[in-house]
Amino acid sequence: MPRAAALFRGTESFVTVGDWLRFAVSLFNREGLEFAQGTPHAGDEALALVKWALHLDEDVQPFLAARLAAAEIAEVKAALARRAVDRTPLAYITGQAWLGGQSFAVNEHTLIPRSYFVELIQGEPDLGAWLGKREPKRILELCTGSGCLALLLAHRYPRARVSATDLSNAALDVAEHNILLHRLADRVELRQGDLFGAIGDERFDLIVANPPYEPSELCDHLSPELQHEPRLALDGGADGMELVRRIVREARAHLTPQGVLAIELGGLRDAVTAEFPAVPFEWPVLADGTTAVCVIRAKDLPQ
Ligand SMILES: C[S@@+](CC[C@H](N)C(=O)[O-])C[C@H]1O[C@@H](n2cnc3c(N)ncnc32)[C@H](O)[C@@H]1O
Repeated sequence: MPRAAALFRGTESFVTVGDWLRFAVSLFNREGLEFAQGTPHAGDEALALVKWALHLDEDVQPFLAARLAAAEIAEVKAALARRAVDRTPLAYITGQAWLGGQSFAVNEHTLIPRSYFVELIQGEPDLGAWLGKREPKRILELCTGSGCLALLLAHRYPRARVSATDLSNAALDVAEHNILLHRLADRVELRQGDLFGAIGDERFDLIVANPPYEPSELCDHLSPELQHEPRLALDGGADGMELVRRIVREARAHLTPQGVLAIELGGLRDAVTAEFPAVPFEWPVLADGTTAVCVIRAKDLPQ
């Protein structure tokens, strides 16, 4: 029996939205799916996926006892099979992800938004702790993917102009779509290229980067869900530091004198500190207790 058909053995009597919602939660837990790409629990994913498959409203409560047509059950089964058999992440099935209360279009050319930067853009302390009273006029976001961080920055700093770069043209197509969805085309622009190669000799008050920072070896053994994401978005070379190292070395030439650089680099704190012992990196403690983002002032960066 094909894998997808076996999944639904014994579900012949399921007819309501509630039946399928409950089944989806059990299925996701039973199959040991990974929930590391924006929705942390089987229940959240099941709810989002069943709602999406049935074109339901935000509040599903009034419809839990509603009976489904055979064609609707087929839609739900197809969505559940993509998630549980193909292990396609929820966001790639629905084409949508959320970060910082904002919605972004995504596809398999973009990382699914989940950056720690959302805390430093919207939370406390935010990047303002390093920028002082100065609102940044020009912001650069390197490695923009779906454009989510560039757009959150543009919302946070309504007078700033934001430039966002990526090596991947396919990712930039998604970012362009998101800029239009957020109606920010007058202040957010995209550039294609290899890190600072995309921006010539321009300077910025704030540079934010969430580059690929996983060691290549680790990328060879990712969960099936993470393997759906572009390797270009995750693989930071042999030690994970390939892009981080280039950003630290090259950023000063692209910052204004009072400018600030912030990089998300996961677990690379010891590696970056050892490689640049003269740089006084600052490490804001994030909500989960980690220090996955460093902040450096322009004057403290290598010349
Ligand atoms: C970790 S993802 C971050 C995406 C997005 N900023 C976010 O936080 O969701 C890294 C991005 O860097 C891009 N990238 C990889 N190598 C690059 C390079 N050499 N220059 C510019 N962008 C690069 C990838 O295409 C990917 O979109």
